[in-house]
Amino acid sequence: MTREAQRGIGAGELEGLLAGHREAFLETFGPGTPPDFHFSPGRVNLMGAHLDYNGGPVMPMTIDCGTFVGLRERSDGQVLLRSTTDSVELRADLGALPVQRSGDWVDYPLGVILALKRKATATAPGSKLPGFEVLFGGNLPIGAGLSSSASICLGMAIALDRAWDMQWSDRERVEAALWSEREFVGVHCGIMDPFAVGFARPSHLLWLDCKDESIEHIPMDADAVCVAVADTGVRRALAQGEFNKRVAECAEAYKLLKGHVPGATCLRDIPASVLKAHAGELPSAVQLRAMHVIEEVARANSARDSLLNGDLGGFGAQMSAAHASLDKNFEVSVPELDVLVDTAVHCPGVFGSRLTGAGFGGCTVILLEPSAKQELRARLSADFSARFGSTPTIQFFQAGGGPRRIELD
Ligand code: GLA
Repeated sequence: MTREAQRGIGAGELEGLLAGHREAFLETFGPGTPPDFHFSPGRVNLMGAHLDYNGGPVMPMTIDCGTFVGLRERSDGQVLLRSTTDSVELRADLGALPVQRSGDWVDYPLGVILALKRKATATAPGSKLPGFEVLFGGNLPIGAGLSSSASICLGMAIALDRAWDMQWSDRERVEAALWSEREFVGVHCGIMDPFAVGFARPSHLLWLDCKDESIEHIPMDADAVCVAVADTGVRRALAQGEFNKRVAECAEAYKLLKGHVPGATCLRDIPASVLKAHAGELPSAVQLRAMHVIEEVARANSARDSLLNGDLGGFGAQMSAAHASLDKNFEVSVPELDVLVDTAVHCPGVFGSRLTGAGFGGCTVILLEPSAKQELRARLSADFSARFGSTPTIQFFQAGGGPRRIELD
């Protein structure tokens, strides 16, 4: 990550950072036809924690930190994928791309290319698709819970869409990103991240029902509210294994309870009364996970009503309650996240706060009045460094847009 990347950016600064990416592209691949540049954002989730793989509702938004994708066509049919932050690269013929994952970062964009190549070939059989060279970069910290993988996948999808002139829909690009993460890379993730990135709309939260995949855009008043993202700097190597364990525990809860609810298709469909009546049939950890999921569905619904009624205090209260449950019932918090949440919720002008992403480190998200930014930054930095001896990275955002082309002149 560059110094700029760690500092983060505000609105309007993206073009400046992308100009730096263009320099990097020319250094990497040399002069030639001007490449095309796209930006694909990261995301934070404000409500609906760990609900996507349980069929529940989630409320994410994108931020103006993300992945820069520079792409230029090649006439020799080769595909080259490189990054400004990792020396691993992929070089192969478009007609003979590897179909096995390698375990490196290139698997994410490669999965997208395989999915979209299949689609393009099915739509226009016999047409000759050109090769290309791509440089990935950006300012999104990896492993911080801001969905760098969905950002990369959607960035690859939109860049390829333009290069091959396919005019795929948002949903088609999201599906390619999902296929790459779940089927090719093999992560047991829910659907939230690619949807959050692919369907984002500026100044709106996304309401995504993960059971029927319906979406709605709910406006956020930029004069009244903004979002802070505070990064603990904690990255847990075992986070993926713990995440998979939570997915399995939720599946077990559903399996043990579904017999009591005719027509249920996922844990989200189990009413709180059924869990209460049959709690004794579940191992204790599984009981706690189910309690979090079922209560979080109610919290997300209530937060949605609050937002639609302009009650930001009501929305924030649900975020903070969600964090308490993520800590006590879902057991995915760490002391660094708890300190940031606790300090934030005691700061004047803050509506609520919780961890974002899977947990086990990474970032918190804070909903606040824009006038409270300075005070919040000072308090978070002071409390966190007094306790842990380091300073959290704090950035402020409005709800951003989805993946987009950036014109550089
Ligand atoms: C990770 C996963 C998402 C979601 C969140 C928790 O970020 O990638 O699909 O499950 O955790 O809400």
